[in-house]
Amino acid sequence: MTVQRVGPAHAAVLAAIHGAAFPQEPWGAGALQVQLEMHSVIGLLDERGGLLLLRVTADEAEILTIGVVPAMRRHGVGRALLDEALDRAAALGVRALYLEVGVCNGPARALYEAAGFLEVGRRRRYYASGEDALVLRATLAAASDAAPTRLASN
Ligand SMILES: CC(C)(COP(=O)(O)OP(=O)(O)OC[C@H]1O[C@@H](n2cnc3c(N)ncnc32)[C@H](O)[C@@H]1OP(=O)(O)O)[C@@H](O)C(=O)NCCC(=O)NCCS
Repeated sequence: MTVQRVGPAHAAVLAAIHGAAFPQEPWGAGALQVQLEMHSVIGLLDERGGLLLLRVTADEAEILTIGVVPAMRRHGVGRALLDEALDRAAALGVRALYLEVGVCNGPARALYEAAGFLEVGRRRRYYASGEDALVLRATLAAASDAAPTRLASN
């Protein structure tokens, strides 16, 4: 198991990973610490060089960020983080998990599609670059459901 839940004490580590994964828009340690102090936010760290922040609100959740340092991409880090987030969300009773992704972000879109996310919306010129964002959703089976799979059929 390379993925662990972390809190505000890991803000600097997460900031270093975020800065490497998103050099155009790094999140500082202070901003990450504030987010990790919120009860609704779950921080996940993959010790190989990946982070994910998940915000849970009742039976919905949103992936705030997911990133892997360039040297460790295509080694399953992103998938491990996403799987852990999906498992934790399902265990908390989340039924719908949302995220936004740039239309031109092929690697991330491939990761999400492989994990069962479907496109449910589009935000025009959402990013500073002018790029549109797609809104994706994964529908989860509640932990108490009898269905054997985590992802629901729709
Ligand atoms: C998107 C990102 C998190 C993926 O992380 P990763 O650790 O490289 O992904 P994984 O190795 O776990 O890949 C899992 C699957 O996603 C898909 N995938 C990931 N990167 C891909 C790429 N460059 N091209 C095509 N498919 C890709 C594949 O289906 C892959 O499975 P496979 O390796 O068995 O083919 C990483 O590229 C990243 O940090 N990008 C910059 C930050 C970013 O854009 N974050 C998302 C914002 S919405």
